[in-house]
Amino acid sequence: MTVAKGRFPLASNILTVKKVPTLSRETTGEAETLALAREVGALLKPSDWVALMGELGSGKTVFVKGLAEVLNLEGIPRSPTFSIVQVHPPKKGGIALRHVDLYRLAASEIPALEWEELHQDTGVTVVEWAEKCQYLWPSQCLPIRISHQGQDVRLFEFYIYGARSEDIIRRLKGKK
Ligand SMILES: Nc1ncnc2c1ncn2[C@@H]1O[C@H](COP(=O)(O)OP(=O)(O)O)[C@@H](O)[C@H]1O
Ligand SMILES: [Mg+2]
Repeated sequence: MTVAKGRFPLASNILTVKKVPTLSRETTGEAETLALAREVGALLKPSDWVALMGELGSGKTVFVKGLAEVLNLEGIPRSPTFSIVQVHPPKKGGIALRHVDLYRLAASEIPALEWEELHQDTGVTVVEWAEKCQYLWPSQCLPIRISHQGQDVRLFEFYIYGARSEDIIRRLKGKK
């Protein structure tokens, strides 16, 4: 098993995730999810780490596309066919995005992931199916759980996981 390494402190205790979401937002249709993601993306800084949780078709990739719009990237994130990690370099003035999708990995394969595959200091990292690798989360991250509420309705629940997530959530609340 590969031991995760790097400058990020590891989340030593997964119980530090509060069980109760601090902020809930509902979207109806893809366009509203893109708008929510743009709101979140506008608050992100290099080295931020976003943990997206939720079943197939919940809207994780749509959310990543919305983030990408405000991060100002080369290329559009999409569901990867083979690759687990896609790095999108920024256009001038933008922030790079490391898009990780663990869908194709079995839980037993996750420990083999290198730390560098899941983290970058120079840009934002967003991980789809982050519930599969909670023991690899950095101690500062923004967990978001997405769930189906009906045909086109999705519930986004934001959790506090370190001071940085608290700050982002406070700003999101302040806007509405
Ligand atoms: N409110 C919504 N937010 C996001 N996607 C939605 C919503 N309503 C319907 N959809 C549809 O659900 C699907 C979500 O797909 P996707 O983002 O690839 O899911 P995931 O990455 O979680 O597997 C898309 O086909 C999208 O058009
Ligand atoms: Mg996806």
